[in-house]
Amino acid sequence: MTNILFVTSSPRGGASHSSKVAERVLADLVASNPDATVVRRDLAREPLPHLDETYLGALFGPPENRTDEQKALVALSDKLVDELLAADIVVIASAMINFTITSTLKTWLDYVARAGRTFGYVDGKSVGFVTGKRVVLVEAKGGIYTEGPMKPHDFQGPYLRYVLGFLGMTDVDVIAVEGVNFGPEHAERALAAAEIRATEAARALTVVAEAA
Ligand SMILES: Cc1cc2nc3c(=O)[nH]c(=O)nc-3n(C[C@H](O)[C@H](O)[C@H](O)COP(=O)(O)O)c2cc1C
Repeated sequence: MTNILFVTSSPRGGASHSSKVAERVLADLVASNPDATVVRRDLAREPLPHLDETYLGALFGPPENRTDEQKALVALSDKLVDELLAADIVVIASAMINFTITSTLKTWLDYVARAGRTFGYVDGKSVGFVTGKRVVLVEAKGGIYTEGPMKPHDFQGPYLRYVLGFLGMTDVDVIAVEGVNFGPEHAERALAAAEIRATEAARALTVVAEAA
């Protein structure tokens, strides 16, 4: 059975291009894997609390000293890590906000990047423990960043690929929905191209799952 973790993070609700394209990936995946289990995390509608002194004190202090609030925060982090480790496929929808990811997606990453659980250090080098996952990353951006003068200012895609790789997720298929602020016609074309890519990405994952 295939476990899918589906993470959305746009603050634009039903208008979100990244969520729409990611939903297409998910629908195609579920159509070809009807037994798949899907865990959804809508980080915009149900945001996680930012990291704070209470949580970090719990994580790095003696477990027996934890208050009830600290126990609840560590349990939340454990749940998020468990969801990620249990997934075979991770679909992440990311909106570019001020050249990078939303704070809600960053906070999810802050909870799942846990020393000893999702990464560690061996011989002075970092090792990601979240291996064997296939990731589909949908990135929506108002401008165009895959080429041209804005390319060096994309702190969304390069950051996400780096941090996912740091945690061990190196098999990442990126679908960009770019230039959506360049007018409705451009947005429609970008969305249509991304939806074709979504179906291709889901098909590629299904072929791999069937061969395994
Ligand atoms: C508050 C805000 C900040 C944004 N910042 C940028 C930006 O820095 N660069 C950019 O290209 N587009 C920017 N955009 C446009 C979004 O990236 C674009 O609307 C994209 O579609 C968002 O993803 P979504 O459709 O999944 O919500 C911004 C949009 C909002 C609402």
